[in-house]
Amino acid sequence: MTVASHLRIRVAEYDRKISTFIPYYREMLTVAAAALQPRLSSPLIVDLGTGTGALAKLCLQAVPSGRLIGLDTDSEMLAVATRRLRATQRPGVELKQKSFTRGALPRANYITAAFSLHHIRTRGLKVRLYQRCLEALYAGGTMVSVDCMPPSQPDLHASAMQAWIRHLERHYSFQDATSHLSAWAKEDRYFPLEQEVEMLRSEGFKVEIVWRRDSFAVIRATKPRNS
Ligand SMILES: C[S@@+](CC[C@H](N)C(=O)[O-])C[C@H]1O[C@@H](n2cnc3c(N)ncnc32)[C@H](O)[C@@H]1O
Repeated sequence: MTVASHLRIRVAEYDRKISTFIPYYREMLTVAAAALQPRLSSPLIVDLGTGTGALAKLCLQAVPSGRLIGLDTDSEMLAVATRRLRATQRPGVELKQKSFTRGALPRANYITAAFSLHHIRTRGLKVRLYQRCLEALYAGGTMVSVDCMPPSQPDLHASAMQAWIRHLERHYSFQDATSHLSAWAKEDRYFPLEQEVEMLRSEGFKVEIVWRRDSFAVIRATKPRNS
């Protein structure tokens, strides 16, 4: 499925509309990029589901000597990312039309993902992806993920979802807001933050919750130096 049909928008509208769909979108991407530690010389960042390249661009700004590979299956999204990242005039940037669930991931110092890992619908496949990320990262390497990772307790989960609906209602009617959420829920899988942390820790990552509000979180998972 393409992003345009999933979100029921045209790709040209994505960068304008995504903040109407996702509260704190820009803030979360900024926090995620700042969570990279730009202490290495020319580290490689692999951005999973790079989309139109918004997070990729912020990561390149946060890591001035960084190189980047962006993976995405959607050619229209990659065309926007190509234009955006070409304008940065940064060398060492490569975008590939490729699934991050198939084949080996490139060896990396950093792996990043924003709103792409919720496309993995089962726990088994998500754990497998985290195993592959751990294998791909150099020791001490870091994965940063931004996504909908709601609370697990039912009352907190309900109030977090209400907050998401209130955000959508700033831009859409109540009917459209709830229709968007139920359409996305058919295709996306939002594992609670607690389960995300547990899956990453079970694979051997050290996990920090860098930012959290309502249903959304930015987490940083580091591969221990001795693994
Ligand atoms: C909601 S968009 C997020 C894009 C961007 N990271 C952002 O934050 O704006 C999700 C992106 O993940 C991509 N995607 C989903 N599943 C994928 C997969 N298995 N392999 C590569 N890309 C995938 C989609 O094509 C889409 O561009």
